[in-house]
This record gives sequence, C-alpha cells and structure tokens, in this order.
Amino acid sequence: MSADNNYGFATKLVHAGEAPDPLTGAIAPVLVRTKTFSQPVFGVESKWQYSRGKNPTRSILELKLEALAGGGQATVFGSGDAATTMFLLTLKPGDRLVCCKELYGGTIRLFEQLFKDFGIHADYVDVQDLAAVKAVQTDRTVAIWTESPTNPKLGIIDLHKVGEVAKATGLRFIADLTFAPPVTTDPFAYGAETVIYSLSKYFAGHNDVIGGAVVTKNKELYDRLVWLQWSVGAVLSPDECYRVIQELKTLGMRWERVSASAQIVAEHLQKHPQITKVYYPGLDDHPGRDIAIKQMKNGFGAALSFDLRSADLHLIRQFVNSLQTSQLVVFGESLASPETILAHPATMSHRSLTTEQRNDLGIHDNFFRLSVGFEEPNDLIKVLDEALAIFNTNNVAVETNAATVAN
Ligand SMILES: Cc1ncc(COP(=O)(O)O)c(C=O)c1O
Repeated sequence: MSADNNYGFATKLVHAGEAPDPLTGAIAPVLVRTKTFSQPVFGVESKWQYSRGKNPTRSILELKLEALAGGGQATVFGSGDAATTMFLLTLKPGDRLVCCKELYGGTIRLFEQLFKDFGIHADYVDVQDLAAVKAVQTDRTVAIWTESPTNPKLGIIDLHKVGEVAKATGLRFIADLTFAPPVTTDPFAYGAETVIYSLSKYFAGHNDVIGGAVVTKNKELYDRLVWLQWSVGAVLSPDECYRVIQELKTLGMRWERVSASAQIVAEHLQKHPQITKVYYPGLDDHPGRDIAIKQMKNGFGAALSFDLRSADLHLIRQFVNSLQTSQLVVFGESLASPETILAHPATMSHRSLTTEQRNDLGIHDNFFRLSVGFEEPNDLIKVLDEALAIFNTNNVAVETNAATVAN
C-alpha cells in the first residue's frame, strides 16, 4: 500500500509501505540483507547499489513511517540518538537552538558535550512562551526543539502554542515525539517541520531493537539526511528494520493496553502514603492534562514517574531490590517494553547532567520512572505495594537528597 492514502491508522500500521512479494507471494516483508547489488547496465545508475546508501527493507520501513506520520519523508538511523545527531549534523557552526528545559538526558549530552564543541548552541527556555523565546533568539537561532511528553517527568508541551511561537519568530519547529508516537499525536498537525523518534521505544516495543527516525516536511533537510545516511552510514540494519515493520503492526493495541494499565497504576500510586507525587498526564492533578487530552489520542502511554517520600538511600536500595526479587519489574533503562521497567533517571537516562541541572529539573535520588508493560496491572500493584511497605517499617527521613548516587 502506498503511503498517500486515506485509510485509518490501524490499517496503515498493517499495510502501509508493504505489498505481497511479487516473486513468491510472501506477505511478511522481504528481508534483504545484501550488502551490495548487481548493477545491470554500465553507466546507468541503478535504484539499489549499496545498502549503506539505500536498502529495500529500510525503504519499506521509511515508507511506513511516512504513512503513519501522515506526510513528510523519513530516514532511519541506528538509534534515536543517531537520528538526533544526523539532524544536528545538518546545522552550521554558530547556529543556535531554543530548547524546552526538560529533555532526554542523552539529547542534552549531545548538545552540551559534543555539538557545543562544533559551535552549535542550545538555549533552554519555555518554548511555549513567545517572549521567552524572543529573549534568547539571535540572528543565528535556527530552530525550536521540543519534546512532549518530556522525559523523564512527563511534562506536556502545548505543541499548538509552540507552532505559533515558531511562526511568530520564523524559527523551524523540531519535535522529538518519542513519548508520543503517531498513534497518539499527529506529528504535523501543529506546524512542526521535523519530527524525531526513537524507534527503540513504542515503535518496536518489544525490547529487541535500537533505532531512530527523522520524518520531515523539509525537502532540503531530507535530501541532506539521505546524503548523510550514505556518507556517515549510521543506518538501521535490514534485520532491525524488518523487526520494526513487523512490531509496528501491533502499536495501536500495545499503546491502548499500556495506557490503560499505566492509568490504573498511576492512580494507585497517587494514593500511596509513601509517594509524594506521581507524574502522569492522565491524572487529574497533572498541569498539562487538558492539553494532553487535546493532543494525545487513545491514552497517554506507558511511562509515569514518581517521587518517593523517603530520600534514605539505604531504604531506596531495598525498595529496588524488592522489585527485582519479585521478577515482575525490571530495574533498568528505557521504556515501552512488554516487561515493566523501573528506571532511576539520576543514575541512568540523566546521569550525564550536572548535579545542578538535575536539581533544577527535580531529578533527585528519590525520583523514579516506571514504564508499565503488558502484565496484569493488579500484579504490578501488588509487587509495588510490597516494595513500598519497606518504608512503612522504618522511620523515614523526609528530605530530598540531590542525586548523590549519580556519577
Ligand atoms: C525522548 C527521547 N529521545 C531520544 C532518545 C534516544 O533514543 P535511543 O535510545 O534509541 O538512542 C530517547 C531515549 O530514551 C528519548 O527518551
């Protein structure tokens, strides 16, 4: 099925970019592992030449992503960070980005610890606020960069407002919507020029792929990214592309399932006496809830985060150990897997930030992110309650300890 059709999202998930193999009739996508291609006619450029440049399985995935995004042109890379890197490689020394304050730690690492040395600068402000953006805008500011929901605190950025700010300032609008795949947020509805996705999360969703994509409506950028695929070679392998194509087919079902389960778990944790705050856009007290309802369909995803009442590291370790011994909750990086994953941003996704940066974002040692998997939510609640009971039996010191286990 071609990318430009009016079928519904679930239909596109299954069929877009694909057709039965004309040779055999196989309906699973054709996995073409070849490195190089025979070029039939001397002096005539063939469509397929060398898989670092273009590969048929990768092309299926790219077409599918274009259909799901509802437009634009897609290029896929070896990880979400590689996708971000490829975008940044299209900028020039002296260019500046205006970024939302809370971002995935790896993105901040790329901005501050790599691209700064090449003359690319990031300013961090409220990108929904025209005055704040104008206050840092210079004649070298080229784009606004935002996430929504943000990692790790699930902040909701009003993409409509950012689109208005981008229009008013003449800046390009780049959105990392890893936490809001197109099953929930139409990436181009708010004026974004370019969308970045980590495919390692919801798109693949089975804990077995690292990948990333850039989908853009900017033809010049797309052409440069295709050139970078070929020249830099940080491409996604055909095997990984094959997996994402297949795993994408269940994205709609997976998203609804994990969103419903995360809502149940979030509501339970919100009432728990050992937890002072739960961050989840589906909760009534979330400051971005009304915006989230407008810009996210079918639920709010698997990820929620929370602050423990206790900052006692000894007890926090016991809490984590208890969840590990339950064998239901994995303690580790990342999100959007069949398995529920508990992450500790201060020592994981945001460890390369300075203590000051983490403190500004409220990423303390007692702050955790939970990615709810496909398990029964009641089983998860049971093991979470058992782990949280560790704090009941101890006289808890209520203080916030600034990321002392990090680094
Ligand atoms: C918002 C966001 N963008 C990008 C990335 C990087 O993706 P990857 O792990 O595929 O490199 C992540 C990873 O967690 C993320 O959360």
